[in-house]
Amino acid sequence: MSPRRGSLFGLDAGVKAGVIAAMRARPGRSAEPAPHRLDDEGRTSSRPDLRDHPLYRELLVQKLAADRLDIANPFFRVHERAAGHRTTIAGRDYVNFASYNYLDLVEHPAVVGAARTAIDTFGTSASASRPVGGERPVHAALEAAIARLHGTEAAVAFVSGHGTNVSVLGKLFGPRDLIVHDALAHNSIQVGAQLSGAARRAFAHNDPASCEAVLRSYRGRAERAIIVVEGLYSMDGDTPDLAAFVALARRFDAFLMVDEAHSVGTVGATGRGVAEHAGVAPAEVDIWMGTLSKSFAGCGGYVAGSSVLVDMLKFAAPGFLYSVGMPPPVAAASTAAIEILEAEPERPRRLQANGRAFVDSAKAHDLDVGRSEGFNVVPVIVKSSVLAARLSNWLFERGVNVQPILYPAVEEKAARLRFFVTCAHTPAELERAAALTAEGLRLLRR
Ligand SMILES: Cc1ncc(COP(=O)(O)O)c(C=O)c1O
Repeated sequence: MSPRRGSLFGLDAGVKAGVIAAMRARPGRSAEPAPHRLDDEGRTSSRPDLRDHPLYRELLVQKLAADRLDIANPFFRVHERAAGHRTTIAGRDYVNFASYNYLDLVEHPAVVGAARTAIDTFGTSASASRPVGGERPVHAALEAAIARLHGTEAAVAFVSGHGTNVSVLGKLFGPRDLIVHDALAHNSIQVGAQLSGAARRAFAHNDPASCEAVLRSYRGRAERAIIVVEGLYSMDGDTPDLAAFVALARRFDAFLMVDEAHSVGTVGATGRGVAEHAGVAPAEVDIWMGTLSKSFAGCGGYVAGSSVLVDMLKFAAPGFLYSVGMPPPVAAASTAAIEILEAEPERPRRLQANGRAFVDSAKAHDLDVGRSEGFNVVPVIVKSSVLAARLSNWLFERGVNVQPILYPAVEEKAARLRFFVTCAHTPAELERAAALTAEGLRLLRR
C-alpha cells in the first residue's frame, strides 16, 4: 500500500512537534533541502549525504517517536529455529503468529529431503538466468506441479514473488492500456502497474460494483484492460467474489489476474485456491499469480495460465529473462510441498478449522477482526499504531509473537495486529492468544 499523509505513527500533534524539533536539532542536518551549487569551475565542493534523504529522515522520526513513547522495536526479531507455529527468540519459547508457514511444511522431512537431494545433485545456485545458464530438471518439475495444482496449461517460476507482479504487469501492459485493481492490492501489484505506464485505477475494496463503475468510465479509452484482485487479502483475510469479477472481465473485454499469494494451499476444499473456493473454472482467469514463500515452504513467485502467456513471459518478462533461475534446492522443496498438499488435503482443512476457531474465539472476546473470513489471515483492528505496537510487545512478554501493522502500511484508523494462522496451531494456543489479546487491549486502553 502506498504511504498516506496524515498523523505520524498515531502521534498527537504535541508529541509529533517534539519529535520533529528533535530531528531539526540534530547537528549538521537542515530541515529544508539546500539548493545545489557549483563553483566557478563547475565543480561541487560537497558530497551528497544519504542522511539528507527524506526516507532516512522519515525512518529517524519513527525511531525517535518509538523511543519517546518507550515502545520496543517489534521488527527484525531473531528467531533461533524454523518459522513454525512455535518459535524460539532469545532462548524463550513463543507461540508464533508471524510467519507464512501455513501448511507447516518448512521442516517437513520430504521437503527438507528434496532440498538436500537437489543440493547434492545441482548445488545451491542456478548460477545464471535459465535461458542463458540452462535448465535443471527441478525447474520443469516445479512448473509442472504448479500448472497441475491450478489446472492450467503451463506455469513459470520467478525468483521473487514481489518481482513477479512487477515484471508481469510492468511488461504485459503499456501506456495505451488500463489496469484496474482493488484498493487494497499488494504493493507489488501497484508498483507493477506504475511501471507499466498504463492508466491505473483502484476500485473500492472487494466491491465489484465499484470495479464496474471504473470500467464504465475508463475502459473505452484503453486498448487493453486488466482487472487485478487477490485470492485472499493479506491485511484483511477476506476473499473476492471471483464469479462477479469474471463476469465483469467478460463484459468489458478485460483480462483477469488473481494474486493467490495467501490463498493457494489455504483456501478451497483441497487448498487449490480461490477458484476452488468460488466454484470458478481456472480457465476463466487469464493470469494466476502465486508465491512459493507461503504455503510452499520456499521462495519466489509464479504465473500459471495458458501456454501462450507462459511462453511470452519466458521470452520477455525482465524478472525471468534477466534474473537468475530459482535455486535448485528451493525449486525441489516447493515441488515436494505441492505434492504433499495434493496428497494431504487434511492440511488445508485443519488450517481452515483453525482460522474459523480463532475468528470465533476473537469475536467471543469482543475483538474486531474486520472482514476476516477465518482462513489464515486474521487481523485484530485496534485503530492506533501506538496501541498496536504496545499490544504486540505486551503479548510478546507473555509468549505470543504477533506483528503489529502500523501506519503508513495501513491507515491509522485501521492499525492492527495481524495473526497468521497455520494448520499446526493447537486449539489451546488459538484460544489463549485470543483471550490474552483481549486482556492486553483492555489494560492498554485504560
Ligand atoms: C498479495 C501478495 N502478493 C505478492 C507478495 C510478494 O511475495 P513474496 O514475499 O514471496 O515476494 C506478497 C507478500 O507477502 C503478497 O502478500
